[in-house]
Amino acid sequence: MMQAIAAAELGDDVLGDDPTVERLERTVAAILGMEAAILVPSGTMANQLAIRSACESGDEVICHRDSHVLHYETAAPAALSGCMTQPLEGEAGVFDAESVRRAVRPSDQHAPRSRMLVVENTVNRAGGTAWRREEFRAVASAARDLGLHVHVDGARLWNACIARGYAPGEFLAASADSASVCFSKGLGAPVGSALAGSRALIGRARRFRKMFGGAMRQSGLLAAAAIHALEHHVARLVEDHAHAMRLAAGLSGLPGIEVEPAPRGMRTNMVFLRVPGDAAEFCTRLAAQGVRMIPMGHGRVRAVTHLDVDAAGIERAIEAVRSIAGR
Ligand SMILES: Cc1ncc(COP(=O)(O)O)c(C=O)c1O
Repeated sequence: MMQAIAAAELGDDVLGDDPTVERLERTVAAILGMEAAILVPSGTMANQLAIRSACESGDEVICHRDSHVLHYETAAPAALSGCMTQPLEGEAGVFDAESVRRAVRPSDQHAPRSRMLVVENTVNRAGGTAWRREEFRAVASAARDLGLHVHVDGARLWNACIARGYAPGEFLAASADSASVCFSKGLGAPVGSALAGSRALIGRARRFRKMFGGAMRQSGLLAAAAIHALEHHVARLVEDHAHAMRLAAGLSGLPGIEVEPAPRGMRTNMVFLRVPGDAAEFCTRLAAQGVRMIPMGHGRVRAVTHLDVDAAGIERAIEAVRSIAGR
């Protein structure tokens, strides 16, 4: 990846002439089966550009109650787009078409205008749930029938694809109006995400990206890393999922540690633990042993496997938890 970065042909993407960024954007659009794509600094910006580009102030974004746009994007739908969010219930971050139909507001001057449905795949806070293609088709088609824009927060879309055995374009085909994807998570690039959608949507997003301060100049450096990640780091995600399974098995039964079951029976690259006492303190003690997990509030801890963690690292993590478990 460092060689790809060093060899990247560069221009100025704010002026629209960075050939490596153009190549990445064409590649991502083709993989996702969309007309166009745009490189952005973060997954948050990709989601927020989708909302800003597809919605108006006074609109409503419908999403699962555990979704990233609701919990971890600093109320940006309200702050940047004047949109409110309506949370849906559903096991493991998944909901059905009927919940979407019930959530959509009547066309009435008293009500916000329901305008967008966000489907996260995989669902981070739920433990990395991978949607089934048919489930997504059903909710997306219900949403579209009611005039909603369907946005997929695919920060970990490739993990879902590997776990469920569908291709990204196949999952999104004819059901999604836009999708965000990240190169900097399981795919292992240093920085970068993309938003894909129709040419018109991405044209609007390009303007708002500039407004949000996300237009970058010699960003071919980042695009080269992302292209390398797409070419070399997708098929290997299967290893991350196997490592997560091994981690979950190794941690099960340790005193005081409760491993949350794989969401809907299918593990991707995450393991959530319930730990006694303070989750942040638990993570600090682990970090002192060189193992990093993240507190997710109220006795809940998240471990994520990725390309920098090998099988030996998983065993080391299990031993580190064993050494502090029950203390
Ligand atoms: C599902 C999901 N969407 C979006 C994001 C945002 O990505 P970023 O941290 O690059 O803004 C994350 C980050 O973890 C995520 O898990």
